[in-house]
This record gives sequence, structure tokens and C-alpha cells, in this order.
Amino acid sequence: MELLKQRILEEGVVISDQVLKLDGLLNHQVDPMLTMEMGREFARRFAEAGVTRVVTVESSGIAVAFATAYEMKVPLVFARRKKTLLADPDALCERVPSFTKGIVTDIMLSRQYISENDKILFIDDIIANGDAARGLIKIIQRSGAELVGLGVVVEKSFQAGARTIREQGIRLESLVDITSLSEGTITFG
Ligand code: G4P
Ligand code: NA
Ligand code: NA
Repeated sequence: MELLKQRILEEGVVISDQVLKLDGLLNHQVDPMLTMEMGREFARRFAEAGVTRVVTVESSGIAVAFATAYEMKVPLVFARRKKTLLADPDALCERVPSFTKGIVTDIMLSRQYISENDKILFIDDIIANGDAARGLIKIIQRSGAELVGLGVVVEKSFQAGARTIREQGIRLESLVDITSLSEGTITFG
């Protein structure tokens, strides 16, 4: 998506050769018009997949996942980051390390909102090492649902996440591929 590349160049702040701050687009502010464009693009790419639910992890994936689900006219389910002991005992849970936060978190998804009859499209904002994504993929697989693919807004292809997921045979579509952040410069693939 050319428009998205332009906006990343305008709004992105290179924090290190590993991390690109995208608060103006994904992690603090969202542009509804641009986000709806992203949703249309994912809906177009996965139009033939028979998707029954879009799934993401709270919080930054929710806006673009909503846009995608709206276009596909299916529900959006967001996995929760578990903070409560009142959680549903039947929930599917995975513990994942967080790259940016340097902590582990538990993500959970209730069996009420995913079933073996579902065809799931997993949408996420940024894929880096892929730990969070792999956690949600495990949950989807344990639910018995079919994962038709993963759509990410920004793939940082110099980190291993997207590659390892594709190596599992999962279809992964990214809207923008960043191949390097070295010397303070954003390089697109
Ligand atoms: P992931 O690739 O599966 O997301 O897992 P990873 O463990 O690599 O990344 C963990 C978190 O760090 C994710 O957010 C991911 O979006 C974020 N992240 C990784 N690299 C960058 C980066 O260069 N820039 C920005 N802005 N974020 C990055 P999260 O933990 O799911 O949190 P949230 O954003 O939903 O709150
Ligand atoms: Na994120
Ligand atoms: Na995310």
C-alpha cells in the first residue's frame, strides 16, 4: 500500500535499528479513513477464503481488525490480555513474551467466540519476533477452528516472526514490508 508507506515515512519515528515508533498511526492514534483502507485491502486479499470471524489481540490490532471485519461482514473477536482471576475457566490461554514491553503476558480467548466450525482470519498491527502472534495461532489451533491466514499492517522482515509463521505453512499477508531500520532510515522491501 503506497499510501501507507507515505504515512509511515511521515509519522514513524525510528527508535533503534529494531524498533519503529508508530504511535501516530497504530499504537496511540488511528486515522479512521486510512484504517478503513487497510481493512478493505485485507478483505480483498482474503475475499475467497470463506472467513467467518476476524481475530486479533488487544489492543493495537483492534482498529484494523475492526475495519477488516466490517468489510467482510463478520464478527471481530479480540483475545484479551488476562488481568483477572474471574476469567472463564473454559478459556484458551497462552503465555507470551512481549518484545517491546520486556515482560510476559497471558492472552486468552473464550471458547464461546471461536469454534471448530470457524474459518479465522487473524489480523495484527506489527509483526516482529512473532511471539504474540504464535501464541494466538496456538489458541486458534487448539480451538479446532481453521486458520485461513494472517494479515499484518507492518512486517519487519529483518526479524524472524513473519518468516517462521510462513514456514509453518500459514498464509501471511503484510501491507508494508520494512527490511531495515539501520542508520535511522526506514527501508521498504
Ligand atoms: P508479535 O510480532 O507477534 O507482535 O510479537 P513480538 O513479541 O515480536 O512483539 C510484541 C509487541 O511489540 C507487539 O505489540 C508488537 O506489535 C510490538 N512491536 C514489535 N516491534 C515493534 C516496532 O518496531 N514498533 C512498534 N510500534 N511496535 C512493535 P503488543 O504487545 O501486541 O501490544 P499492543 O500494541 O497491542 O498494545
Ligand atoms: Na502492537
Ligand atoms: Na498487536
